[in-house]
Amino acid sequence: ARLVILVSGSGTNLQALLDAVSDDGYGAAIVAVGADRDGIEGLARAERAGVPTFVERVKAHPSREAWDEALASRLAEHRPDLVVSAGFMKILGPRVLKENSIVNTHPALLPSFPGAHAVRDALAYGVKVTGCTVHLVDAGVDTGPVIAQEAVEVLPGDDESSLHERIKVVERRLLVQTVGRMAREGFTVTGREVSLGVTR
Ligand code: GRF
Repeated sequence: ARLVILVSGSGTNLQALLDAVSDDGYGAAIVAVGADRDGIEGLARAERAGVPTFVERVKAHPSREAWDEALASRLAEHRPDLVVSAGFMKILGPRVLKENSIVNTHPALLPSFPGAHAVRDALAYGVKVTGCTVHLVDAGVDTGPVIAQEAVEVLPGDDESSLHERIKVVERRLLVQTVGRMAREGFTVTGREVSLGVTR
């Protein structure tokens, strides 16, 4: 399967996928990495792996709709079977959503703590257990059908970065496992149920 990965930051989830696809048995190739900004480590990781990259900055376009169109056509160039949003920090527009199957990884147990500050919000709430979620992207913010989740303990003395790092260890493994199964086995969506494995 042809994967395009969207990043906005350090790209450690991207790196986990780059490492995974080098194994032929994984059943996927990363054909491009896209970002909403220049100069991030995620793009450097793609370049080091010899993967084509593109950047589509919202501010480079006259409107959000124009950005959506531009991103949709960049994605179409690479003919992805699956787009993976791995720390991509923009809400995707209707054209991109309509034309692609998109998976996102979120560092909380949705529907708890959606949005851009999930780890901080979980800590502030005082939960004892949080975790990560792999889900399909729909028009909402972190509201799409859940595919996989795993719990992560909050430890005394945790701050946002120690907790996020502990979540990311689990998140990278869960994302690699889930994307690999979707790539190899296919998936079907019925309402909010995502079932892996192509129905015979
Ligand atoms: C991940 O925890 C992702 O869930 C969140 O931002 C983080 C990105 O980390 N949206 P990285 O860029 O993959 O290292």
